Amino acid sequence: MTEQTAKIIDGKATAAALREAVAARVAALKERHGITPGLAVVLVGEDPASQVYVRNKNEQTKQAGMRSFEHRLPADTPEAALLTLVSALNADPAVNGILVQLPLPKHIDSQKVLDAIDPAKDVDGFHPMNAGRLATGGNALVPCTPLGCLILLKRELGALAGRKAIVIGRSNIVGKPMAQLLLRESCTVVLAHSKTRDLPGECRQADIVVAAVGQPELVKGDWIKPGATVIDVGINRVPGAEPGKTRLVGDADFKSCAAVAGAITPVPGGVGPMTIAVLLRNALEACCRQHGLPFEEVF
Ligand code: GUN
Repeated sequence: MTEQTAKIIDGKATAAALREAVAARVAALKERHGITPGLAVVLVGEDPASQVYVRNKNEQTKQAGMRSFEHRLPADTPEAALLTLVSALNADPAVNGILVQLPLPKHIDSQKVLDAIDPAKDVDGFHPMNAGRLATGGNALVPCTPLGCLILLKRELGALAGRKAIVIGRSNIVGKPMAQLLLRESCTVVLAHSKTRDLPGECRQADIVVAAVGQPELVKGDWIKPGATVIDVGINRVPGAEPGKTRLVGDADFKSCAAVAGAITPVPGGVGPMTIAVLLRNALEACCRQHGLPFEEVF
């Protein structure tokens, strides 16, 4: 029962391919139109995980041939100063995408800052205008992690229409936009959360399981319908086998799920690497639209 039979979905390889495809489009944009997309990343404070993300974002932005604007502000930056910076970035024509790294220090109202970003430059897709457009079928910039999950699903399964999907977790960053994206693909979607009754039973109905709750190894193999596809968004650090060591696990119990699922993303190396690759894709989309150029899906 514990033997792994599922195909492992290689998010690292898909992310590398997406980044290359974006880089090729960026090169063509430069050559044909003399345009270089620019992405601004704002980091407030010194959260170690955020510093790693921001460093990777900057490096990968440059590798894709885009301009990277990095703004590091001290943890005690007043909210008004951050809003002033966002206004300046909104007005700067060299900046096509703006990302304010979350979480922000507690004295800053995150939603107020996200609402201040020009929706056309909102490469995170967190602005209510983009959330609304995603829900109502317009041209939205879509949050990076759920869009990365969708890309992996479509490459794995082809058309998703008519499939039953469960999304576990209702955050604005992953769960809600993920449910909207699956609905847009004509899946029948259950959006489950901490108050859902009989979560294992709901899960067993699903052809697609997206786990995004932040609970280490919550989803067990006997919750999975045989052959289903499991997309694990969780990144949880838990105590390792040896004292003082830690290891990363997802929201799905990999071993038991991989014995039942048809395909599954590993942690690490599954959804994680897709996020920055999709950010670059979104920056390219934002740049094209700001210049009135058509944006064709990268892949
Ligand atoms: N912090 C962790 N993930 C994200 C993300 O996708 N976007 C932003 N802005 N902050 C994050």
